[in-house]
Amino acid sequence: MTGAVLVTGAAGGLGYAIAKRLVRDGHSVVIGDIDVEKANESAAEIGVPALRLDISDEESVVKVVGRVACSHGLSGVVNNAGVHKNLSVVGTSSVDWDRIHSVNARGTFLMCREAARHMLKGDGGSIVNIITRVQFGNPFSAAYMSSKSAVHSLTQCLAVEVAKAGIRVNGVGPGHVGPGTGMVRNFEAKAESLGLEWNEFETMVHRSIPLGRWCRPSDVAGAVSFLMSENAEFMTGEFIYVTGGFQAYCEAPEISLLENPYD
Ligand SMILES: NC(=O)c1ccc[n+]([C@@H]2O[C@H](COP(=O)([O-])OP(=O)(O)OC[C@H]3O[C@@H](n4cnc5c(N)ncnc54)[C@H](O)[C@@H]3O)[C@@H](O)[C@H]2O)c1
Repeated sequence: MTGAVLVTGAAGGLGYAIAKRLVRDGHSVVIGDIDVEKANESAAEIGVPALRLDISDEESVVKVVGRVACSHGLSGVVNNAGVHKNLSVVGTSSVDWDRIHSVNARGTFLMCREAARHMLKGDGGSIVNIITRVQFGNPFSAAYMSSKSAVHSLTQCLAVEVAKAGIRVNGVGPGHVGPGTGMVRNFEAKAESLGLEWNEFETMVHRSIPLGRWCRPSDVAGAVSFLMSENAEFMTGEFIYVTGGFQAYCEAPEISLLENPYD
């Protein structure tokens, strides 16, 4: 399929690893990120263009997706941009709830809608949405997890709506992705709130993952590249979890790390 893959939130972290892997696997890539300065630096490293994109801003999404579709053709979109903040339910302000949902849920919806509108006029395409691991209770993450659950449902609904037009829509759920990603800042905050040194916390995280290490951005990038490829031509509305076996637990072992936050 001709055209470019637009990767959101690819100035750093997981998005950068995804963009780099897609380039290596022969795709034309365009990076879209709200942090345009960092996006330009990262894009230069892998020889692709970067555009300023705020996925929570409808005008920005319409403009950037339209621009990529007109100048390159749009073969794919990886909706990776997202935000997280550790918050208990009772400690979540409506401002924080709205901010997290406006980027993760509404922003991904806007990106999917605009991408599908362009792909419906062409010869199909592939959309990959980055969700998260287990879709059940994860303390201090209600705003984040519920925003990702919205993306989970969005992925399935869009997949069945546009399948006949040759558009595939899938999701990738990373586990605990280690150093080099934004989520690590949240893990650091969690370690601090539990009164643990970083290396103690890291050891506990490693022990909770059957394969015994952090997920690497490159592990997630490999799954995204597979879903973008012809090897996944019979997959739509499906999810690949990249968690080193964490997703296979029947209960989250991380729960044992928690003190009662309301004591
Ligand atoms: N790192 C993890 O452990 C982990 C685990 C599961 C899921 N995820 C998901 O993977 C994705 C990437 O996570 P990460 O840890 O690499 O994050 P990160 O904070 O390192 O990077 C996020 C990128 O998104 C950009 N961004 C933020 N808001 C934006 C907006 N409104 N419009 C456009 N760009 C915006 C940021 O500038 C940044 O470059 C997120 O969707 C996250 O929820 C991460």
